[in-house]
Amino acid sequence: MPITTCVFDAYGTLFDVNAAAKQAAAEPAHAALADIWPVLARDWRLKQLQYTWLRAVADQHCDFWQVTQDGLDWAMEAAGLSDAATRARLLELYWELSAYPEVPAMLETLKSRGLATAILSNGSPDMLNAAVSSSGICDVLDAVLSVEDVGVFKPHDRVYDMVEQRFRCDRSEVLFVSSNGWDAAGAAGYGFQTAWVNRGGEPVDKLYAKPHHILSDLTTIPDLC
Ligand code: LAC
Repeated sequence: MPITTCVFDAYGTLFDVNAAAKQAAAEPAHAALADIWPVLARDWRLKQLQYTWLRAVADQHCDFWQVTQDGLDWAMEAAGLSDAATRARLLELYWELSAYPEVPAMLETLKSRGLATAILSNGSPDMLNAAVSSSGICDVLDAVLSVEDVGVFKPHDRVYDMVEQRFRCDRSEVLFVSSNGWDAAGAAGYGFQTAWVNRGGEPVDKLYAKPHHILSDLTTIPDLC
């Protein structure tokens, strides 16, 4: 079936999750981050994601803002950081993450070709609305879908079900795009067409399904539709 609906993961896919640590590290008040921000950003992201998976299997859901704070607390402790102002600044910056440079034009192209566009994310509605509005992409998205409507994190099928329910389409008409290999695998196993945006040149995840396309950034997404 031809693709009618393009659905994007948010954090790491449309929005640069490393931007918060990178920006804080450039501010004189948070000079302690100057040399260690890449490690802090990596640990923060890894723990944030691990906590989503663990909470999903343990049926202990909380919203993504909670796991974002918990992941940062683990990463700061691991780095020997305890400054409350740095913690507050990093969390503040998470509400205004920048979009990758190619995102607005790519979404505009999809819209001009008549495709439906959406975000499907672990993010809570208020986090997602803040990021969408600070990056100026509201007008090129038809929907911003949050897992908070189903109360479990990806890659649970109940999350991917939200797309068919919202757009009244068949899953085979959906191109799902994620920078997270495990999310692209989950969505491929579910029955979406999938594109994995592998900016870091990582190996393919050894899971139950593989992404249909592997890209180095988002510029060629319209070519897949
Ligand atoms: C999201 C996380 C997984 O936006 O990046 O859902």
